[in-house]
Amino acid sequence: MRPRKIKEGIYYVGAVDWNRKLFDALIPLPDGTSYNAYLIKGKEKIALIDTVDPTMTQVLLSYLEDIHQIDFIISHHGEQDHSGAIPIILEKYKSAKVVTNPKGKEILSIHLNIPEDKFIIVSNGEILSLGDKTLKFIYTPWVHWPETMVSYLIEDKILFTCDLFGSHLATSDIFVNDKGLVYDSAKRYYAEIMMPFRNIIQKNLEKIKAYNIELIAPSHGPIYQDPPFIIDAYNDWVNNPPKNIVIIPYISMHNSTHIMVEYLTEKLIEKEIKVEIFDLSSVDIGKLAMALVDAGTIVVGTPTVLIGPHPKVVYAVFLANALKPKAKFLSIIGSYGWSGKTIDILKNMVSNLDMEILDPVLIKGLPKKEDLKLLDDLAEKIYEKHKELGLA
Ligand code: FEO
Repeated sequence: MRPRKIKEGIYYVGAVDWNRKLFDALIPLPDGTSYNAYLIKGKEKIALIDTVDPTMTQVLLSYLEDIHQIDFIISHHGEQDHSGAIPIILEKYKSAKVVTNPKGKEILSIHLNIPEDKFIIVSNGEILSLGDKTLKFIYTPWVHWPETMVSYLIEDKILFTCDLFGSHLATSDIFVNDKGLVYDSAKRYYAEIMMPFRNIIQKNLEKIKAYNIELIAPSHGPIYQDPPFIIDAYNDWVNNPPKNIVIIPYISMHNSTHIMVEYLTEKLIEKEIKVEIFDLSSVDIGKLAMALVDAGTIVVGTPTVLIGPHPKVVYAVFLANALKPKAKFLSIIGSYGWSGKTIDILKNMVSNLDMEILDPVLIKGLPKKEDLKLLDDLAEKIYEKHKELGLA
């Protein structure tokens, strides 16, 4: 395949993975993904920006078939979906050097056995000249691992961001065409991968503010020709308060919890609070993660299995605790047959979440009139709390 031109001297040489269904053997990829690599031909030197997942090495090599020289492999991130083909590229281009930061070197050495003499280490703000094109490196740790950095191609005003601003979207389009589609994919990506690092991302967004950016070229999904589209979305997801939304991930075994979820939903809607319900017996966990980006309150619904919450609820709560969404309130509703420690077990699982726990409603058997009254109270409490924060 011929490298696909982006601008004069700058080419797309990445791989589209139409069939990948899971990332990290965990995260669903309903729309596949891509591993974008870019080639920059300067007057004096040629740089390859990241590589591809090892499973797609042949695609990258086919793009590089007529490229006889690569001087620098810029490694923004050590994770294998971008670094996995570096050893093969080093084999093909014997004099190429891997340009990364100290932490990146450590990670690439451990995971890919790249020899010491193959590295060029750059510091934050350092520049690398390719002749008529100049790359400036900006450390942006924790988007997604500690070594992540981005680079700015000064003359062309392109920011290469690797994971940051990415979207898991397989498409033959190099540039964003369908903004709605890319927004959803980028939000899913942010929710699943970036959300736990919200506070650090905030600082990284500040760092790139100073740059005049015409294109943002991530290493997953299409290139942004309208950078504010994705930067503004990140600012919203990272910095803005949560919205007047309650999400209810739940599971029900004998209908009690289901009745409670439906009743609470009705009461919340009457108060003009948006509700999103996720039946955990068949949920796309990525959709739940997306909903966590904006939710003001999370209400977990569970029956009692033996002495504790349903295992599928445990999984969802574990995930929410890991993703650290910005919701402000949490409650638990559900049922039990004879006894149990459901509330205590779930409360102990959310140590990462900076949320006020609103009085849980755990009832015996099918909900009775007095039980539903407790749900009225919970709906009212959520409304008051949202109002206090200016969400409602
Ligand atoms: Fe796309 Fe963190 O790798």
